[in-house]
Amino acid sequence: MYPQFTFLIPTKIYYGFGEFKKVADRVREIGGEKILVVTDPVIGKTDFTQSMLQSLEENGFIYKVYDNVEPNPAVRHVEEGLQMAKGFGCELIIGIGGGSALDTAKAIAVMMTNEGKIGDYWGNPPKNAAMPVIAIPTTAGTSSEITWVTVVKDEEKKVKMGIGSPKLAPAIAIYDPEVTKTMPPGITASTGMDALTHAIEAYTNINNNPVAELAALEAVRLISENLRPAVAKGDNLKARHGVLLGTLFAGIAFANAVLGVVHAITSPLGGYFPVPHGVVNAILLPPAMEYNKNACIDKFVKIAEAMGENIEGLSKLEAADKAIEAVKRLSKDVGIPESLSEIGVKEELLPEIAAEAIKNVNIPLNPRQPSEKDLIQICKAVI
Ligand SMILES: [Fe+2]
Repeated sequence: MYPQFTFLIPTKIYYGFGEFKKVADRVREIGGEKILVVTDPVIGKTDFTQSMLQSLEENGFIYKVYDNVEPNPAVRHVEEGLQMAKGFGCELIIGIGGGSALDTAKAIAVMMTNEGKIGDYWGNPPKNAAMPVIAIPTTAGTSSEITWVTVVKDEEKKVKMGIGSPKLAPAIAIYDPEVTKTMPPGITASTGMDALTHAIEAYTNINNNPVAELAALEAVRLISENLRPAVAKGDNLKARHGVLLGTLFAGIAFANAVLGVVHAITSPLGGYFPVPHGVVNAILLPPAMEYNKNACIDKFVKIAEAMGENIEGLSKLEAADKAIEAVKRLSKDVGIPESLSEIGVKEELLPEIAAEAIKNVNIPLNPRQPSEKDLIQICKAVI
């Protein structure tokens, strides 16, 4: 059967060392003079953010900084930033930081051009295109800078709302490996394993296409080769470049192919336990691969090869097992815990989590169709 597919990356991508220093040129490219910079308190104080603000000022732009973003941003962060943006007639938003800062920037941008509250657009795409966003990732993993989803927590209802539409994709993403070199080892490891999970789930799911497959497999190769040295020595720019480029490829793949059973579980699980998204993904990836392998064994052979495993003379099954072993080894080497209980997940809540996970959008895309019991078994394998 010949493939038939559509493919979309609405964001213009600038990649390379030194790209960060050209932010003012990117602002001119979009147009507008009044800029809201959205970030978190740590990234807001870094030398590179301060140098960016100085450059904006030197180039005659007017800016305000909203730096109150917290991990797992909530409706109140969007509203605070929105109020600030409206207060000075903001024309353009720059998001700088990890996935939380970038998601907040995207959500504020949507609300600058659409009526109501951000929650109104959960399951109901916004009518108008968002205000232009320049997204600058300082971590390498979430791919929020090129995806068209923003996740905002409703603290009253205790739910994470995924608001999705190509209308909220950032206008420009600036990838500069230099900016990621100050990222601490733990965040490098967890975001890198998140990106690897994106790549493997996008590659193996039934919604993929030849372009997404190509990008996903290259992401697996780049992240496997470079994550250990990037975690071990943060200023290793070759490794930082490899992981960031791998993240870009993973993002291109999963923005179009979407994901699988791991993200279906981690989405509700993250609402129950405040654990780093990438760490939970990394723990669940091996048992999820074990569950999926017989549904797409040839792809598992390719993953093993991309991860540098020697599969010469092995049967397909043996080679597929090598892929799973390679993921476990990488996870362990970068310091990820091996079990869910180590990060505080309680076994008695697994049925509740599975009951929500089974309704997740990623479930129908997974190579095997799991039952709630299967989802519990996947978690129990690493409890
Ligand atoms: Fe993820």
